[in-house]
Amino acid sequence: MPEPRPGGGDFNTPSPARVYDYVLGGSDHYAADRQMAEGVLRDWPALATLAPSNRAWILRVVRILTEAGIDQFLDVGSGLPTAEAVHEVAQRINPDSRVVYVDNDPIVESHRRALLAENDLTAYVHAPAQNANTVLRAAEQTLDPRQPVAVLMSAVLHYVPEPPAEVVAPYVRWLAPGSYLAISHVAIEGSDPQMLSRIARVFPQQTVRHRAEIEAAFAGLELLEPGLVDVERWRPDTEVSLTPQRLLAGVGKVT
Ligand SMILES: C[S@@+](CC[C@H](N)C(=O)[O-])C[C@H]1O[C@@H](n2cnc3c(N)ncnc32)[C@H](O)[C@@H]1O
Repeated sequence: MPEPRPGGGDFNTPSPARVYDYVLGGSDHYAADRQMAEGVLRDWPALATLAPSNRAWILRVVRILTEAGIDQFLDVGSGLPTAEAVHEVAQRINPDSRVVYVDNDPIVESHRRALLAENDLTAYVHAPAQNANTVLRAAEQTLDPRQPVAVLMSAVLHYVPEPPAEVVAPYVRWLAPGSYLAISHVAIEGSDPQMLSRIARVFPQQTVRHRAEIEAAFAGLELLEPGLVDVERWRPDTEVSLTPQRLLAGVGKVT
């Protein structure tokens, strides 16, 4: 197994970000992370396909929004830079794209700071998503809130105990018309109930919510087609196959 890239932190305690990196086939994980990931995958095998589907979705959103003229991104709960990062996708289409990454995991902080040091158009903010004021004041050093920004909250709000609508509200108030909010979130409806109870046991950090609670986060926004749907069904590039676990995804526009 290759050694993780420059980072740091406690290597003996599993980190959710490194566990996710392992599931995505990245290289930033240690034995403790791999052991936890294998345990979670035994009880929640759908994660092996759901995690890459979610990653592919958020990168599709970045591509589509960059092609539509968005050149500022705020990636909240960004995780480790496994495979392609948001700024790589956006800057390939528009080299002037600016990206601010936010996470509350110290492991992510050290990796991101090391990897972003050479890219002037990117920045990292170490803060919880719930501290919108801290996040937004720091983000304003890189992003211009008078111009449209896409806020990405991909597979992060189900780690936050507060209701999604409450967490996103200050971000939406901050956004100029023409901005976007993208969310993916695990959902109760349509998921295998036995699997949900196994997930709750092996992965208690995650809060699976009702569809209506996720939908409420888009209140006042214009939901882009095809609406709030399975992540695999949001403008897919390839043939779609679903898992027994629902992960809903949507993109709302500020009008
Ligand atoms: C499943 S990963 C998703 C990574 C990336 N957004 C993606 O979709 O590929 C969840 C990330 O959210 C971060 N996270 C969890 N709770 C958070 C919070 N309250 N504030 C900010 N980040 C958080 C974790 O550290 C982790 O990096």
